[in-house]
Amino acid sequence: MGHQKTSDKKTYRSAAWFGKADKDGFIHRSWMRNQGYPEDVFDGRPVIGICNTFSELTPCNAHFRTIAEFVKRGVWEAGGLPVEFPVTSLGESNMRPTAMLFRNLVAMDVEESIRANPVDGVVLLCGCDKTTPSLIMGTASCDIPALVVSGGPMLNGKYRGQDIGSGTDVWRFSEDVKAGRMSLQEFSEAEACMSRSAGHCMVMGTASTMASMVEALGLGLPQNAAIPAVDSRRNALAHIAGRRIVDLVRDNVTISQILTRAAFENAIRVNGAIGGSTNAVIHLIAIARRLGVPLSLEDWDAFGRDVPTLVDLKPSGRYLMEDLYYAGGLQGVMRILGEHDLLNRDALTVNGRTQWENVKDAPIWNTEVIRPFDNPVVAHGGIAVLSGNLAPNGAVLKPSAASPGLMQHRGRAVVFETIEHYKARIVDPALDIDATCILVLKNCGPKGYPGMAEVGNMGLPPKLLQAGVQDMVRISDARMSGTAYGTVVLHVSPEAAVGGPLALVQDGDMIELDVPGRRLHLDVSDEELARRRAAWQAAPVPESGWAKLYVEHVQQADQGADLDFLVGKRGVEVTRESH
Ligand code: FES
Repeated sequence: MGHQKTSDKKTYRSAAWFGKADKDGFIHRSWMRNQGYPEDVFDGRPVIGICNTFSELTPCNAHFRTIAEFVKRGVWEAGGLPVEFPVTSLGESNMRPTAMLFRNLVAMDVEESIRANPVDGVVLLCGCDKTTPSLIMGTASCDIPALVVSGGPMLNGKYRGQDIGSGTDVWRFSEDVKAGRMSLQEFSEAEACMSRSAGHCMVMGTASTMASMVEALGLGLPQNAAIPAVDSRRNALAHIAGRRIVDLVRDNVTISQILTRAAFENAIRVNGAIGGSTNAVIHLIAIARRLGVPLSLEDWDAFGRDVPTLVDLKPSGRYLMEDLYYAGGLQGVMRILGEHDLLNRDALTVNGRTQWENVKDAPIWNTEVIRPFDNPVVAHGGIAVLSGNLAPNGAVLKPSAASPGLMQHRGRAVVFETIEHYKARIVDPALDIDATCILVLKNCGPKGYPGMAEVGNMGLPPKLLQAGVQDMVRISDARMSGTAYGTVVLHVSPEAAVGGPLALVQDGDMIELDVPGRRLHLDVSDEELARRRAAWQAAPVPESGWAKLYVEHVQQADQGADLDFLVGKRGVEVTRESH
């Protein structure tokens, strides 16, 4: 599938704008030509949209202008016309109340930007957590040729001779400060040491996980996941991506031909092998539902259950994304999965080859970072999907981030009605709590927060931290940052705000967590729960604005937390012309 350099014989979608000799064609071309394009770029060649999430308020994506320039080189070289366009950028570190509140809004922005404009294919520039799923979701609903270029992780953080990881070590330092093990001056020094280059969080957090999902899904080029943002090979990958998207348009390989059921199964297994973020569960289900590909929580458990965690990266392990790249990158990990019958080898990828063709000869240079199959970091990685009377529609837990000693645990609930209630109460020295208790947080799900904040890994009570307690079971309808760790049950569905059983838990109730048995049980009689339910009242919904639309239409976590009216493929046909 070599790219042609002469003008194309095929007629592309963009010809409906630029290919006309009439008044409309004049308008479409003339205004574009104010950017200095010569006449012959409107000769019917593929028009490639470069969907850019650059923003100085999204520091993880702040180098994307440079990446876009490299994509353009490749598009020009292959005989396409590159046109860069912005979409709303979601910066995890700054946005309040949570960037997740806006993931579906950006998906709409992307979908409508593509459909409304003369583009034949898109390169999606993704980095910070939500920028990846939102762009893929919007593009999936359009179903045009697409390729993702991830921005790449930051270089390893370095603090006093030690590697430190985005987020993960912030949680640790913060608990050290609370426990009196670290001074505020040292805390401030560490701040400058953590984020020392362009790129996204360099632990196996949500951004690195989603960049890995892109590669595992076949939607990115080989090595998309791990090349550091500032490594010149990241720019070379962007250049090659520019060439490839032109070929994908010429061959009419749309995103739905890449994102098949087989591709999602590969991604779930890779998530287990990398110890990936629980956020990927929600995002991949949402993407699949845009395409009409069946994908459920049960699939996450079934396909991830036998996958060992091979990659020894923080937050579960020791290393960081830069190390993963030098060790062989995701290609090495996928080769091992393929050798053990844990990869759909024939899944097509955007470089025109199958996954197996891409990875079968991948070298591994460091078996501490990418461990052998028979010496994994965690024997059964993946995502454990729990259910029971406390989560009738499911909940998730990441075994590789949890404490083995808490995987089967029965404890007394200490309940927080909201995150504000938690913050006020957790610091109370008189709080009746010990290390065997289970922290239960309500009203942090999609509708309840709203936006499903990453607060599920709620910090432990300071008095227990000072006593040396390092982990406790925590349960909520919230999400957790991919950079976080602990025995944390997340995404409890239905959430408390819609009257799920989580809403009915009270201080002192006994809860049983059985991860091997995939069970989450509230030890309260059905009669008592019915009595509590009769007294339960829903909170009022926001009165106006995006939050109102979101709360009225967002689906539960087990369905991907998309808006109900956005699920599905709508294509790119435009029924009305503009002039
Ligand atoms: Fe952007 Fe972590 S804050 S990836």
